Amino acid sequence: MLKRRRILVVGNWKMNPATLARAEKLFVDVEKTIKNKTLRVDMAIAPPLLYVGALSELSGPQKIEFVAQDVSTHESGAHTGEISAAMLRSHGIKCAIVGHSEMRAAGESDESINKKLHALLAVKSVAILCVGESERDGNGNYFGVVEDQLRSAFLDIKMDDVKRMVIAYEPVWAIGTGVNARPEDVEEMRLFINKVLTDLYDRATAEAIRVLYGGSVTPDNAAELLKQGAIDGFLVGGASLEAKKFVEIVKISDQYAKLA
Ligand code: PGA
Repeated sequence: MLKRRRILVVGNWKMNPATLARAEKLFVDVEKTIKNKTLRVDMAIAPPLLYVGALSELSGPQKIEFVAQDVSTHESGAHTGEISAAMLRSHGIKCAIVGHSEMRAAGESDESINKKLHALLAVKSVAILCVGESERDGNGNYFGVVEDQLRSAFLDIKMDDVKRMVIAYEPVWAIGTGVNARPEDVEEMRLFINKVLTDLYDRATAEAIRVLYGGSVTPDNAAELLKQGAIDGFLVGGASLEAKKFVEIVKISDQYAKLA
């Protein structure tokens, strides 16, 4: 049985909503339902970066953390369109998603993912590393896929920095498809990730790392995934674009944290 870590729920808005006005409405709708609550879970939103300034103006006492959906491998210089980890930090964004399957599908390499992790950790930010297989077969090859992704991502990352990493296990076939992984399969993968990290570092270090699940998470499957999946929270895509659903997932997680 793995030790429990503090639950983290991140809403990845991807390239949504289409306008700032709609983003503000979504944010306010989330914000107002949790305003006066004492949450036992960490909650964050990864909106399009362009919106963060305006959204943070709308932030109430319950400060919702902002997460970037990506970061540059570089520190500064002639890299059109890119934003560095230090620039994010200077805007109060201390965490970024790295290696999302949509970025991998667009050509992001293992090497670039590793560099992005180094870039974030160098400025003491948190990195949410996404890993996950594209398909499942009967031979369990997906374990090898995830192991390779982990080993290349963690290349030369120091033990001291590992505590600032979060892993999101996101089977690609479950993302945006409405088909979520079975809780028992998530648990099996969670234990496997722990084994690989123990091998790379040590047991205590591995156990300190939060592992989230992502892939068609909804209020209907969140409780079961938390209970049986042995995970430490969620990376939520589609459902985070509906305030009611996202808040419900946060509340279910909070309830679970209370009982755990
Ligand atoms: P989904 O996306 O919840 O819409 O499946 C998850 C993700 O891409 O992180």
